[in-house]
Amino acid sequence: MDSIVFGPDLALGIPVMDQSHRVIFDLLESMQALPHPVFDEACHTLAAEFAEDLAEENRLMESIGYPLAATHRAAHDSLLACLDQALCLLASGDEAGARQIVHSLPDWIEAHINTMDLALAIAASHLK
Ligand SMILES: [Fe+2]
Ligand SMILES: [Fe+2]
Repeated sequence: MDSIVFGPDLALGIPVMDQSHRVIFDLLESMQALPHPVFDEACHTLAAEFAEDLAEENRLMESIGYPLAATHRAAHDSLLACLDQALCLLASGDEAGARQIVHSLPDWIEAHINTMDLALAIAASHLK
């Protein structure tokens, strides 16, 4: 991804999802040039934001009886595992490793929004 911007192309039309995604993109964009130790703090903020947002999506899936929930939740769990790994790397002093993981996140999230989250948004809008 060339720039970390939440543009209209990524909007799904489900306000709670779009707002969460926008916050995540803004955080990732702001983290690019952060020096240590502000970067460390931002990583913890990012992990907390993701945990909250993914839990919100998981609740949405549960509330509509979404048939693909298990697969979608597994993708969320894999992202949370990546974030845990970044925090572990930071704790062990490997900031470069943590930055590498954070750097990979925008592409991961964009692909997730354009596939799994899009399918969920379509299902949620039909079942409202
Ligand atoms: Fe999402
Ligand atoms: Fe998702």
